[in-house]
Amino acid sequence: MTKRVLITGVTGQDGAYLAKFLLGKGCDVFGAYRRLSTPNFWRLINLDIYDEVRLLPVDLTDTTSLLQVVTLSQPDEIYNLAAQSFVEASFDQPLATAEITGLGTSRILEVVRQVNPGVKFYQASTSELYGNGNDGSSNEVTPFVPASPYAAAKLYAYHMTKIYRQAYGIFACNGILFNHESPLRGLEFVTRKVSNAVARIALGLGKELVLGNLEAKRDWGYAPEYVESMWLMLQQDKPGDYVVATGESHSVEELVRRAFECVNLNWEEYTRSSSRLLRPLEVNSLRGDPSKVGEHLGWKAKVKFDELVQIMVEADLECWRRWLRGEQFSWDAINYPSKE
Ligand code: NAP
Ligand code: GDD
Repeated sequence: MTKRVLITGVTGQDGAYLAKFLLGKGCDVFGAYRRLSTPNFWRLINLDIYDEVRLLPVDLTDTTSLLQVVTLSQPDEIYNLAAQSFVEASFDQPLATAEITGLGTSRILEVVRQVNPGVKFYQASTSELYGNGNDGSSNEVTPFVPASPYAAAKLYAYHMTKIYRQAYGIFACNGILFNHESPLRGLEFVTRKVSNAVARIALGLGKELVLGNLEAKRDWGYAPEYVESMWLMLQQDKPGDYVVATGESHSVEELVRRAFECVNLNWEEYTRSSSRLLRPLEVNSLRGDPSKVGEHLGWKAKVKFDELVQIMVEADLECWRRWLRGEQFSWDAINYPSKE
């Protein structure tokens, strides 16, 4: 029988890649999207799956809408990817972040418990949970020391996922994913901000790249690979929590240097750091230990840092070239307010 899957946050980076992956597995894919005054389906169009996903409106702050999408889709698996996911914004909107990213997860779990506790549930947990608690590489037993309203909300969601597993026997998993990026990454996040600015500068459309903390380090992987780990977690005999990472970390400065190398320019001539872009509290360094996901699920990151940056810069170059040729296509960068 065809498996039915429900993805919340289907309009986001991971939601779009996961929908594509699950359609490839022959699943009936239901995508829960948030109603906006201007529709936001550019990633689904980009991946050529807009017509294949069954789109249902939902808001994570509205239990009735969650009840409705679960009742309508009757899923075998739910992937809860929807969130206010931008760490910086969580300092400006701590309550909205708690409502959506934290309580939103409780609302879905409660709908699952009441409607069909046999549904398998994936929660998009995060390396941000570790905060500054550990200088080395973090695994499934490393303590969590959240350092942002976003991380605090995700920590609550992480625990609720475990609690529903232990208390009610729900097949609920936390994927503790480290940063993963792609050409479909939102423009606010540092990798895409850099690749987009570098492409514009290389084509004479921009002059400068202004960033915050250049010393922060992250374990950056490639999003299309990471969504496969989500699916693998729900195909096991028993539910569990898994760190998903490359095992390597690089600084923002290395990211910028590598991105400018891709277009044969010297990063120092175009980049500056502004104190206005520093966070009230920073997570200095994150690196994951993917041993468990490798041993139990056979998952391993293939695309590493240098290749990832190249993929992203080339994709942004291609988009801006198409734009210069006057082509019309579904894309986000043209609507992004630029400080350059
Ligand atoms: P993203 O691109 O920001 O996507 C977030 C999705 O959530 C979007 O579809 C967004 O809808 C939706 N959403 C936001 N508020 C909502 C609400 N109130 N009701 C319903 N939907 C709502 O994030 P991502 O990078 O794909 O990440 C997916 C998930 O993984 C997130 O939970 C994120 O926190 C987590 N995560 C991400 C990473 C990473 O490196 N990417 C790492 C660890 C964990 P709109 O399109 O309408 O805004
Ligand atoms: N966004 C951004 N913009 N970040 C900058 C900038 C800038 O101009 N300059 C420096 N940075 C630094 C941030 O301070 C942070 O240390 C690092 O670059 C990465 O920032 P983001 O790309 O915004 O990602 P994040 O690590 O805060 O959060 C992402 O990864 C988490 C997993 O660790 C998001 O996808 C979260 O949703 C996810 O949970």
